[in-house]
Amino acid sequence: MKIIKAKDYNAASRMAANIIAAQVILKPDCVLGLATGSTPIGTYESLIERYKNGDLDFSQVSSINLDEYKGLSPENDQSYRYFMNEHLFNHINIDKNRTHVPNGLEPDSEKACGDYNKIINDHGGIDLQLLGLGLNGHIGFNEPADVFEKETHCVDLTQSTIDANSRFFASMDEVPKQAYTMGIKTIMQAKKVVLLATGAGKAEIVKKAFFGDVTPQVPASILQLHSDFVLVGDEEALSLIP
Ligand code: GLP
Repeated sequence: MKIIKAKDYNAASRMAANIIAAQVILKPDCVLGLATGSTPIGTYESLIERYKNGDLDFSQVSSINLDEYKGLSPENDQSYRYFMNEHLFNHINIDKNRTHVPNGLEPDSEKACGDYNKIINDHGGIDLQLLGLGLNGHIGFNEPADVFEKETHCVDLTQSTIDANSRFFASMDEVPKQAYTMGIKTIMQAKKVVLLATGAGKAEIVKKAFFGDVTPQVPASILQLHSDFVLVGDEEALSLIP
């Protein structure tokens, strides 16, 4: 595990964008595993800026997102497809046909997950996976569990995640209770993994996940075993680590 400590959110975002930019420059047809949540927004802004400056070309890049709420359409402004379009895809020259997010409108979970696994396998896996970190240690929507789920699956979101996500919805009733998420094996098979954690609210879970036991009760902890894992954090999020 490599740790990059940045001064604040903006510096951490630029660091994460540097790593992604290097990947795109070195392998123009790379497969990027992308994340949603508030944390990567600054990283995406930084990538857009570099694209607009003429420093990055996404025309051959493919992307595979981590997760999507079950039941939300791509047009719903809380869906992760909508998020990706708004925060990244609409502003760079990526071919939208090469961008993938689980199909939240597929009611048959087995089909939705099988289709997504096929997309991932057809791409030959992920070159660089960007991750955020849930307050309970979830990555994508892999919630604390008794075992590490391997491939794309449908999850019942925990109350802590529903509560955390409720800030984006008009009322608690509107917060989806289930999601489709890429599995832990798929994330671990990515050639490189970059997890971005910022803010004091993440300090406890950063310490637990990366300096505690490897356990499916803290899904992100398995990243300690990845051969090319980079934790990018700001001073606040990294304040409790030894
Ligand atoms: C959601 C997403 C995760 C994300 C997490 C943290 O649950 N499914 O991929 O990492 O939120 O979000 P934030 O970055 O807003 O703290």
